[in-house]
Amino acid sequence: ATRESAFVHAIASAGVAFAVTRSCAEGSATICGCDTGGWKWGGCSEDVEFGTMVSREFADARENRPDARSAMNRHNNEAGRTSIIDHMHLKCKCHGLSGSCEVKTCWWSQPDFRVIGDYLKDKYDSASEMVVEKHRESRGWVETLRPKYNFFKAPTERDLVYYENSPNFCEPNPETGSFGTRDRICNVTSHGIDGCDLLCCGRGHNTRTEKRKEKCHCIFHWCCYVSCQECVRIYDVHTCK
Ligand SMILES: *[C@@H]1O[C@H](CO)[C@@H](O)[C@H](O)[C@H]1NC(C)=O
Repeated sequence: ATRESAFVHAIASAGVAFAVTRSCAEGSATICGCDTGGWKWGGCSEDVEFGTMVSREFADARENRPDARSAMNRHNNEAGRTSIIDHMHLKCKCHGLSGSCEVKTCWWSQPDFRVIGDYLKDKYDSASEMVVEKHRESRGWVETLRPKYNFFKAPTERDLVYYENSPNFCEPNPETGSFGTRDRICNVTSHGIDGCDLLCCGRGHNTRTEKRKEKCHCIFHWCCYVSCQECVRIYDVHTCK
């Protein structure tokens, strides 16, 4: 029930909703298609309602226990799906003489999944710590979650929640699924989590040089292509001890 677990649940359930929605719009599933609510623009709008419904049935299927872990997983699954709905945007295409917009086709489209990844990573960074409360109900004991700190803003349905501290990911630990940070590439100039100080957990780092081939001296030719040369550049690569 850690912050990392919250992220994994959110991005996995978002991924299911995204993939189902995409394959419906592409016509590769027989029981679904475009969102008919968008017919007025003529394009195939992606039916995110259907995709999130499938994700809800699929990803939440095992999360029906009355315990805190289930409550947390259901919340984070839903936050992941909501992120897809919130990032739907209108795409349009013009049809007409030399790109004039005499006829325009528009449709609702899902975001690039990378956008969802970055957004949920921000939600991971700002996730809310909760505590477990037990209530006696007619069906027996039920656990719910309450914000641990009441001077912080309470989490909304879009925020991720967790209630256990993360294990130390510095050393390998099969029990927590940690690979440790040995051999991870780190950034010597960064003071953030990707910096060698923090990422290597004080063990220090090794440095090696690496030659990389890159495109360079690119020239644009009229009309229309680009030609480049290949240059070899030398980089320092730092990895954790
Ligand atoms: C390393 O960190 C610095 C400072 O945060 C940043 O400007 C730079 O882009 C980073 N380099 C790489 C390769 O990520």
